[in-house]
Amino acid sequence: MTPRARITGTGSYVPEKILTNAELATRIDTSDEWIFTRTGIRQRHIAAEGEHTSDLALKASRKALESAGLDARDLDMVIVATATPDNTFPATATRVQAMLGMEKGAAFDLQAVCSGFIYGLSLADNFIRAGQAGNVLLVGAETFSRILDWEDRSTCVLFGDGAGAVILSATAAGENPDGGAGVLSTHLHSDGSLTDLLYVDGGPSSTGTVGHLRMLGKEVFRHAVVRLAEVAEEALEANGLNCGDIDWLVPHQANKRIIDSTARKLGMPSDRIVLTVDHHANTSAASIPLALDEAVRDGRIKPGNLILMEAMGGGLTWGSSLVRW
Ligand code: COA
Repeated sequence: MTPRARITGTGSYVPEKILTNAELATRIDTSDEWIFTRTGIRQRHIAAEGEHTSDLALKASRKALESAGLDARDLDMVIVATATPDNTFPATATRVQAMLGMEKGAAFDLQAVCSGFIYGLSLADNFIRAGQAGNVLLVGAETFSRILDWEDRSTCVLFGDGAGAVILSATAAGENPDGGAGVLSTHLHSDGSLTDLLYVDGGPSSTGTVGHLRMLGKEVFRHAVVRLAEVAEEALEANGLNCGDIDWLVPHQANKRIIDSTARKLGMPSDRIVLTVDHHANTSAASIPLALDEAVRDGRIKPGNLILMEAMGGGLTWGSSLVRW
């Protein structure tokens, strides 16, 4: 029987410094009221000077390993989903690998911006199903504060820094885990013709500078509400399930209005949605694993629960995953 990938541990980390909407309003022409009513965001965490994406990833990874009861030596692979790597190269994942004291296995970064965690889940699941990895550390880690234009009020209020990690482990050959726990499906999409809606205006091969995030917010919003509902439906249909079967929707945390719209289209009541956008803002690839870890640790997500995850980000990229916990 083909092994299946189960999520056996979660962990997360957010930098100590909190930047509230009120503090932002002292620097730029905005208000807590504008930000909260448009996005549901109240605050975000900001990495300290000298605190890198790999540092955030490492802290989340250690917690995930601990909760899975594994040692870094048990890992075969480290995937870091990030759009804000420490350096152009080497991959932030190899830094995390070294900081964990691993000297074997494979480590690499994955770039699908805010969809990075779903893309990573798909990749890890496929490596495990193919028998090429037994234990995979998947991290979503970002320091978007470093690529924001802090004078552009239409974007700088939306993002924050953080990291979330999961351990995916192969079920033993022939094992039929309780209640069929594991990754049931992943669905990935992208449409590169929509690059100009959300991008960074720099990079090693274009300007030679890091650049800043640029976004046509209204357009991104419009695509998000359509694509996210579609890809969530795609996941349900592929598994012969309907919305009533889902215990928790764990969406990418970009904007509460986008999340509410997706939930409305699916017919998902608000008390079955894990929401962290109010205190984390949009942490890109980190947002889903941050939310997952929060809901696992506070006891909302329990063994046997059916979890639906969805995300959309720059590219545009989007995707969904159904996981039996
Ligand atoms: N504070 C106060 N006013 C602001 C502001 C801020 N931080 N940012 C923009 N505004 C102003 C605009 O300048 C505009 O003023 P104008 O009408 O005088 O030109 C006005 O608010 C309305 O802007 P608009 O763009 O129409 O607002 P909106 O309702 O579309 O909300 C977003 C803006 C960015 C919140 C919304 O488009 C959005 O959430 N888009 C999706 C973004 C996203 O999630 N991206 C990540 C995907 S992974």
